[in-house]
Amino acid sequence: MKIIGSVKEDLSIEKRVSITPESIKKYIDLGFSINLEKKYAEHLGINDEDYKKIGANINFSKEEVFQKSDIILKVNSPSSTEINFIKNKSILIGQFDSNVNRDVFDKLIKNGVKIFSLNLLPRITRAQSMDVLSSQANLAGYKAVIESFSKFEKAIPMMMTAAGTIPPAKVLVVGAGVAGLQAIATAKRMGAIVFATDVRAASKEQVESLGGKFLAVEGSENLETESGYAKETSEAFKKKQEDLLSETLKKIDIVICTALIPGKKAPLIIKENMIKNMKTGAIIYDLAATQGGNAVFTEIDKIVDKNGVKIMGERNILNKLPISASNLYAKNLFNFVLNLYDKKNKKININLEDEIIKKTLIG
Ligand code: NAI
Repeated sequence: MKIIGSVKEDLSIEKRVSITPESIKKYIDLGFSINLEKKYAEHLGINDEDYKKIGANINFSKEEVFQKSDIILKVNSPSSTEINFIKNKSILIGQFDSNVNRDVFDKLIKNGVKIFSLNLLPRITRAQSMDVLSSQANLAGYKAVIESFSKFEKAIPMMMTAAGTIPPAKVLVVGAGVAGLQAIATAKRMGAIVFATDVRAASKEQVESLGGKFLAVEGSENLETESGYAKETSEAFKKKQEDLLSETLKKIDIVICTALIPGKKAPLIIKENMIKNMKTGAIIYDLAATQGGNAVFTEIDKIVDKNGVKIMGERNILNKLPISASNLYAKNLFNFVLNLYDKKNKKININLEDEIIKKTLIG
């Protein structure tokens, strides 16, 4: 277990990389050698030379990397062709959805490959440095604000000029988790007036600490699970939330949707009648697009125009800031590998008594 390898992702859908020049040094310090596919991160402006200088081996084809590596680091699941090259009994780590591509995973598991998905990390303090959901959602929340603001045809902050006053834009953030809180902070920094809503009671204080105005659904109970995620809402809750948002949305310029329920389709929150009553020129950016969308007209990678309201959402917003996303992702991966590494015996140890290791292993 001495060689760590990584290949180029399918660039048509993924620009992030799992190993940055910065993370190489840390792996080498632990005694690993690094094998990378040639032109590994050229699309990010990082040349093979940049990796070589720090000690990586980078002349390999995709197949060679898979065949030689004891540990493979990836972003997305390997393809059905790629799995044919993965060495028996190796370790595969990435941000995998264990429900999709089940065939691929079953085949690898049969060959003794240990597969870890960082999507399954428990949200405990010790796992924070490995938490890809947080590091990537944080960037997604920021970029969703930037993308929506760039499509908005008015100014965002209040401007008092000799020619008159421009009012500040009003932003509503639906779902105040990791992405939503960063969206609130970003929109505030740019001078917007920000409202936010969530089903978890704890989020009120967090929204307010960022200067947002929390919109509570009257008389609702706290819908937070023990692990900190949201539960599905009841029909009665949905009706109350709909009444609250219908009124609010009439005066909102930009909506950032981030509401998710783990393992389920995203809740449909912004309905047709609400969009009909929104102002012409308003924007809805739906970060839940790939999970089905929080807004009714969301279409992946399209800007849909409904009565002058633009509804947008993308398959992978992280492709719009792949360098920042890769830097954080690579650090998360390194911290995960470090946790698998037994420093005393200087080897990888899959200790299933460790909650982080046990919960991320796809079995
Ligand atoms: P997420 O991505 O699953 O959901 C995003 C947000 O949507 C959540 O705040 C959720 O409550 C909200 N939501 C779901 N259904 C909704 C609805 N119908 N209407 C309005 N809002 C709705 O969640 P995320 O961002 O991954 O974070 C969830 C929790 O995990 C939070 O409590 C956060 O503090 C916690 N967390 C803990 C960490 C730790 O290491 N201790 C690290 C990161 C997050």
